[in-house]
Amino acid sequence: MDLETMTAQLERLRADALVAVEGAADAAALEQVHVSFLGRKGAITEILRGIAGLDAADRPRIGAVANDVRGAVEAAAVVRDEALRAAELESRLAAETVDVTTPGRRVARGSRHPIAETVAAIDEVFGRFGFVVHEGPEIEDDVTNFQMLNIPADHPARDLWATLYVDIDDHLLRTHTSPGQIRVMRETRPPIRALLPGRCFRYEAVDASHAFEFFQVEGLMVDEGTSLADLRGLLDEFAHALFGAARATRFRPGYYPFTEPSVAFDVECVVCDGGGCPACGRTGWMTILGAGMVHPVVLRYGGIDPERYQGFAFGMGVERIAMLRHGVHDLRLFMENDLRFLEQFR
Ligand code: PHE
Repeated sequence: MDLETMTAQLERLRADALVAVEGAADAAALEQVHVSFLGRKGAITEILRGIAGLDAADRPRIGAVANDVRGAVEAAAVVRDEALRAAELESRLAAETVDVTTPGRRVARGSRHPIAETVAAIDEVFGRFGFVVHEGPEIEDDVTNFQMLNIPADHPARDLWATLYVDIDDHLLRTHTSPGQIRVMRETRPPIRALLPGRCFRYEAVDASHAFEFFQVEGLMVDEGTSLADLRGLLDEFAHALFGAARATRFRPGYYPFTEPSVAFDVECVVCDGGGCPACGRTGWMTILGAGMVHPVVLRYGGIDPERYQGFAFGMGVERIAMLRHGVHDLRLFMENDLRFLEQFR
């Protein structure tokens, strides 16, 4: 082959290669074009094989042409590659557009049930004074629910707790959390500061203020020298934390077989602030719990020497506390699981 023919072939290849480069639709096609013209077995390389047949003087000249063609095709390939990348980016940007101004989709969020939330609030206040949460069984035996609380079988005081019995000898659904007092006294040693939240059951006709299933929180403190004044001070702190620091409180005489003396603890009405209204029976006061000094008989059943130790106990209905905190007038709302009601407590 002579110089002229080779030069002409190289120029045709340049033209073909530039058209092919320009026509490559994507990175893979461009790579294919690159290999077929410039690769080790590519068309340009093939032609350069014939360089040995040329005159020595012509070789540098054809070499220069070949390098020029190769350089031009390489440069066109780089330009094409950049254009393909830019187009690819452009189409991805268009396809994957995120409109950051679109309002988010709301995720349905659950919330704590107001009774659980109220138990937590009660736990928190007494926790500050070192009271530790314990739990007893919902199915209790008659001895612990009544007898060890100084309520013998057939005693008229049993009428205070309309009882639901179960099909196990001498067992019942606990009517209050007070049997937990016995369990804690038997399991631990003084000083005792225990809080006993839990579900209780009574054979009651259901209305706005009665349920057959409800929650109580019981408190028990046993130590040397524990007094009614300690009980009063603690309950004042509790009432002020939940119902406001300015709220007046009072003890009234009460009766429970397991405490002596027994009291009812009242707070100034949270609806009328003590003025008197239908919610408080126009007395200006609301009873929020029952309490008293643990009866020596009960301490003894708990394995504690009443000559050395004294104790106080209190018990409150959680639904009642929650109703006062949130201005709810019917406790049945707490068990109906109506989301329109529950969603107000987020
Ligand atoms: N257990 C009593 C009730 O259910 C409340 C109470 C607890 C009273 C502790 C005094 C001491 O009515």
